[in-house]
Parts: sequence; C-alpha cells; structure tokens
Amino acid sequence: MNILVLHGPNLHLLGKRQPEIYGHETLADINTMLDQHAAASSHPIVLKMFQSNHEGELVSIIGDHIDWADGILINPAAYTHTSVGIRDALSTVALPVIEIHLSNIYAREEFRHHSYISAIAAGVIGGFGTHSYKLALEAMIHILQLKMEPLAETS
Ligand code: DQA
Repeated sequence: MNILVLHGPNLHLLGKRQPEIYGHETLADINTMLDQHAAASSHPIVLKMFQSNHEGELVSIIGDHIDWADGILINPAAYTHTSVGIRDALSTVALPVIEIHLSNIYAREEFRHHSYISAIAAGVIGGFGTHSYKLALEAMIHILQLKMEPLAETS
C-alpha cells in the first residue's frame, strides 16, 4: 500500500504555531509517528510525506503520484477553505482521500466550517490533535484492505 501524506501551508511551523490550538508536537514528530505506525502494521505500507506552503506545488505533487499512490492523506490546512485547484487535483487522480485536521474546524471561526475537499473525500478526521493523523492512517489501511481483498460474494 503506497500512501501519500500531504501537509498544507503553515504546518511546517507546528510546535511553534498557536500551540493552544495545534499542540506542541512538530511536523517531524507527526511524520515519525506515522512511519512507526506504518512499520508496526501487519500490512506492507510505504509512506511518502510532503509539506508545502504553495497551492500549485500541492496540485503538482498530487498529479505526480497518480500512478504511485493507492490513497492520499491530506491536511490541506488553510487551502481546505479556499482551494478548488487542490480539490480538482484530488478528483483527477481518483484515489481514496482522507481529509485531516488537528483542530475541530466546526468549533472554530465560521470561515473554517466550509471545506472544498470534504465532498470528494472518503472521510474527514479532525479535532484530535496529532492523533487525527494516526486515526486517518488506520482508516486508509482499512479502506485499501477492503479494496484489495473484497469480501467474498455470498451466493
Ligand atoms: C487545520 C485547520 C485549518 O482551518 C487551518 O487553516 C490550518 C490547520 C487543522 O489542522 O486544524 O492551517 O487544517
């Protein structure tokens, strides 16, 4: 299972950025935690992680992995609320997507309540801090497992 993990703008500053909202863990901590979780899984999982502050770069990375990735975990950060381009890129590659947020965007400002990504995602996980990423990885493994080993048809 090849899983692309994308971190959007300002997430490179996790640990320093509004820790009362986003916590004290850094992006490196999150990536390490995901790698460890993947290594401990009974499934062979390869993770590729990227962070970018640029919408177009995220669009390009998504497209570049069309033939590599089996699924995408993405915290689009501020682009969640603005980016038709990232949504279109995700629709184009037509892979299962899980949208992740550290914070509960529905408990925050009104402008964060709308996501351009949610409607094309398999699911959305938010509000659990860095644990949101772990839950999302587990959910993606579950989705890909079902896809690769479809339930036996009953006659
Ligand atoms: C975020 C929530 C977004 O509204 C915000 O712009 C972010 C981070 C989160 O993980 O909680 O940058 O995606």
